[in-house]
Amino acid sequence: MTQNPSAAERSTVHPALVDLTGPGPGSDLVAAPVPLPVPLPGRDLAPAELATLAAAVAANPDLWQHHVAYDDDHRHYASLWRDAHVDVWVLCWTPQNDTGWHDHDISSGAVSVVQGTIIEHNLRVGGPEKVTQAHAGTTFSFGPEHIHRLTGLAAGSVSIHAYSPPLWRLGQYVVNDEGVLQRASVSYAEELRVLDALPEPRAAE
Ligand SMILES: [Fe+2]
Repeated sequence: MTQNPSAAERSTVHPALVDLTGPGPGSDLVAAPVPLPVPLPGRDLAPAELATLAAAVAANPDLWQHHVAYDDDHRHYASLWRDAHVDVWVLCWTPQNDTGWHDHDISSGAVSVVQGTIIEHNLRVGGPEKVTQAHAGTTFSFGPEHIHRLTGLAAGSVSIHAYSPPLWRLGQYVVNDEGVLQRASVSYAEELRVLDALPEPRAAE
């Protein structure tokens, strides 16, 4: 049974991310978090506050520029900050990168595009999806009710993401062979991507 983590547990880094700090391609976690350019209130942040934070980090390339790298097969990203109330990431996009449909469980979020263009897709039941291009300089935020999919558009795109409470579990959506939408709960340490089928259920431990 999955239990809600404590704030202290949320502030710790998933071991799978620590494993990614080694050399080579992929995504990484910063051993020493960057100093954030805005003071944090010591509580969970609302979407508008996350937008302010993401935009402030975006405006300070020294905080994230050295993490920029691109990979068509495995979207490159790095954690910049993680505490009990908020986590901040830099994500790098190629036109091939695609998160697939997902939600953020109980977290609100904000995205600030600093370079290039990404696309936010929102699912409409019985209608065509809503498609919004987010160009460099654009910041948008959302609450935990939000379901979306992000894809790269321009080569060499970069975005800063902030979430509160920090990501822990996310919902990843799959459309099965009958066209039925299904949800899988995944760890924040897993790369969001398009899934062809739900993961096999884990055996009881
Ligand atoms: Fe998302």
